[in-house]
Amino acid sequence: MRTHTCGDLNLHCVGKNVALCGWMHVRRDHGGKIFIDLRDRYGITQVVFDPSVSKKAHEQAEKIGREFVLRITGKVRVRPEGMKNSELSTGEIEVVAESVSVLAASDTPRLDVDDRLVAGEDLRLKYRYLDLRRPAMQKNLIARHKAAMAVREYLSKNNFVEVETPLFVKHTPGGARVFKVASRTHPGKFYSLPESPQLYKQLLMVAGLDRYFQLAKCCRDEDLRADRQVEFTQIDIEASFISQDELLTLLEGLVAFVFYKVKGLKIALPLPRLTFYEAMSRFGSDKPDLRFGMELKEVTDVVKSCSFSIFRTAVENKGVVFALKIDKGARYTRGDIEELTKVAVDAGLPGLGWVKVGKTFEGSIAKYLDLHVQEDIKRITQSSEGDLICFSAGEFELACSALGSVRLFVAKKEHLIPEGYAFCWVVDFPLFEWNKDEQKWQARHHIFSHPREEDLDLLEKDPSKVRGLLHDCVLNGVEIGGGSIRINTRELQARVLKVTGMSLEDVEKTFDFLLEAFRYGAPPHGGIAFGFDRMCALLQGTDDIREVIAFPRTKAAENPLDGSPQEWTEQWLKELHLKLR
Ligand code: AMO
Repeated sequence: MRTHTCGDLNLHCVGKNVALCGWMHVRRDHGGKIFIDLRDRYGITQVVFDPSVSKKAHEQAEKIGREFVLRITGKVRVRPEGMKNSELSTGEIEVVAESVSVLAASDTPRLDVDDRLVAGEDLRLKYRYLDLRRPAMQKNLIARHKAAMAVREYLSKNNFVEVETPLFVKHTPGGARVFKVASRTHPGKFYSLPESPQLYKQLLMVAGLDRYFQLAKCCRDEDLRADRQVEFTQIDIEASFISQDELLTLLEGLVAFVFYKVKGLKIALPLPRLTFYEAMSRFGSDKPDLRFGMELKEVTDVVKSCSFSIFRTAVENKGVVFALKIDKGARYTRGDIEELTKVAVDAGLPGLGWVKVGKTFEGSIAKYLDLHVQEDIKRITQSSEGDLICFSAGEFELACSALGSVRLFVAKKEHLIPEGYAFCWVVDFPLFEWNKDEQKWQARHHIFSHPREEDLDLLEKDPSKVRGLLHDCVLNGVEIGGGSIRINTRELQARVLKVTGMSLEDVEKTFDFLLEAFRYGAPPHGGIAFGFDRMCALLQGTDDIREVIAFPRTKAAENPLDGSPQEWTEQWLKELHLKLR
């Protein structure tokens, strides 16, 4: 049908007779001639319709509208001087049309196939096939394809085997809310769609597969944000007989390989590894953005005996006080500071303390801080005249994360975040967290994560201090992956469960098949799942994963393209033995 694509032709092809196929991108009528930009995935080629070459083709061209699908034959020639376009790979030539056939006409397109005129979200999703014709979207999908190829290449070379796991599974509680599918053949019974292949990949380790991966579709019935979809893809990975250290080395090799293959970027390895405590206390987040500094500083010891009751009470309640210096922040107005306070309050803090650094501290809490305390704070935060210092007081995670939100807010507002990629691992998360409502310990990740060996004794003595062999991979402040080394014996599983107030028997009812499998010799194993959509979005320089998903959903989990979710019909309800309330 075609001899070349719309991105192929250049000066070497001058004089050739060619046939091109593509969409009519733009038409211009000039001095009796018609110019058409013909577009396909590979590029744009200018076609000239000159009545002195073909009267018929010229007449036909007059009737061609935007997005018509055309086949054009003609001869390649050099563009006249002054008409060359250095931005196009085909910009030095044009094709003089000898014939044109309309392969398909088009109604007036509902959105512009033009990266400079991006339509609103609903329109983009409803006419996604038009939106996907834009070069930027095609680049995103191609980058995603390259990333998937790189994942498969790297993992296959490292002995990983790609195995598909079921999509219709038994619901196991504990994680995200899942979708249920009514069974036609088993009245009253339901399948669940998997929130991840977690239990199956562990079974594959019991099965002796040694190294597994899958580009796995996962489904979670959760509220959507820019980095969340109800259907998303994980690079799901599990390996046996591997220490956490060895696993992380292997995995960061994968991340670096993907970035190299897709972007040609060399990521420096090993990636920095921060403990949870370090990440929280330095950056106020368990997914720290390391592209910029602005580190938090602990001032608990310095302010513990000051006369400011909020600081003192926090310390008396075993809490902490942290400070964040904002360079040249003393110029902030009341309104600016109120904005920062709102960020801290939204993050759960009752309020945000602050002082401006002049000769001495100025501001509402300055009077509670003696001069020697002020000097200590200045030294610790390395601040000088003209800076602003913000304080958070309270329980460790709350105080740090609230100030971490302020850090991010200010960095964005002041444009302090440079372009680039800053990766890290966050490890040593606490294994348990205290559930205030139920007054009990619960697993922070999931109940199958392995405690650090040196903390095993603390399981019964002080669960708050037990660190897990957990690892999150973080890129530019986004969690792109999370996983752990798993428990592989029933004895340890029972001890961990006991901390959360459950017995092995309780859990056996729900996780029966996994725990039964563990009776037959489970190797030590561990793994991770990377959010493939998030990884691809960041590779392409966007935070919005919908830019790298062909057919995503709106924030309300609807797909304007196909109209799902759709109404039930009586026939379906009958087939599925269901009644609507
Ligand atoms: P987790 O729940 O942390 O771990 O998920 C792993 C990674 O998947 C991505 N992610 C999402 N991406 C898009 N939309 C969503 N709704 C969404 N939810 C999660 C994130 C996250 O880091 N089975 C464990 C992994 C393991 O322990 O091996 C799991 O699923 O980038």
